[in-house]
Amino acid sequence: MTTVAPEPRRTRASTVTATATENRPATGAVTVPATAIRPHHRVFRVPGVYPVQRDTWLLADVLRAELTDHGCGVDRPCRVLELGAGAGALSVVAAGVPCTEVTAVDLSRRALFSTRINAARHGRRVRTRRGDLTAPVAGERFDVVVSNPPYVPAATDDLPSHGWARAFDGGRDGRAVLDRVCDEAPDVLTEGGRLLVVHSAFNDPALTVARLQTRGLSAEVVARHEHPYGPVLTARSDLLRERGLATADQRTEELVVVRAVRPAA
Ligand SMILES: C[S@@+](CC[C@H](N)C(=O)[O-])C[C@H]1O[C@@H](n2cnc3c(N)ncnc32)[C@H](O)[C@@H]1O
Repeated sequence: MTTVAPEPRRTRASTVTATATENRPATGAVTVPATAIRPHHRVFRVPGVYPVQRDTWLLADVLRAELTDHGCGVDRPCRVLELGAGAGALSVVAAGVPCTEVTAVDLSRRALFSTRINAARHGRRVRTRRGDLTAPVAGERFDVVVSNPPYVPAATDDLPSHGWARAFDGGRDGRAVLDRVCDEAPDVLTEGGRLLVVHSAFNDPALTVARLQTRGLSAEVVARHEHPYGPVLTARSDLLRERGLATADQRTEELVVVRAVRPAA
């Protein structure tokens, strides 16, 4: 069992929350510095579950700002759905915002076990459902859908059916699960509901925006953050270079958060 402790030497969460909202230009994305990204809480996970990383906390900052600054505009609890919850770090953040009802979905039993432990440790209520993306919540509607799907470009389009790689392998272009999130999320969003999804510039964020627009949503990149390759991208640096996604000496990746809104009828 592994516990990832909050790293010291980070600026306060409010730094990036403020950056991501108050200082956000009318159009275009905020570029978030490394010093502004920090863990929101301690995270427990059993082996094989995705360890929370920069992409998790970058998305957590945008998610919390979304829930606190924009609210849900409804006179009932704001329903939040996390697709691909892993250890549930994002669900725990959402459940910490007053007046939210949070559901976490993952294929992995270990992930949902970790999610339940983390929710309990932090005194938050998170409903867990095991299954394939939106299938376990078919027929339900959510005000906010949040996802950090597997998006690392892989050698083949065959997605792993189990194990650690299922948390990050996204097919040859890294979009196999990401595209499904774009396609399925609109069906579970309320009118005015919002999707927040993080992925890599290697996946071509313009494709994400275009795909969501074809589903009738307005979409834009709202946050960007460049960070050094971790172990998985380091191991795949040759593959990225061969595909023309990265230069020979490139060792940094840009993360992006896309925000999409389902218009009211
Ligand atoms: C990159 S991890 C993100 C975990 C967590 N949300 C975070 O940000 O730290 C992706 C998660 O998606 C899950 N996953 C992959 N394919 C899925 C699918 N088709 N349906 C549901 N969950 C899936 C994996 O098991 C993994 O826990």
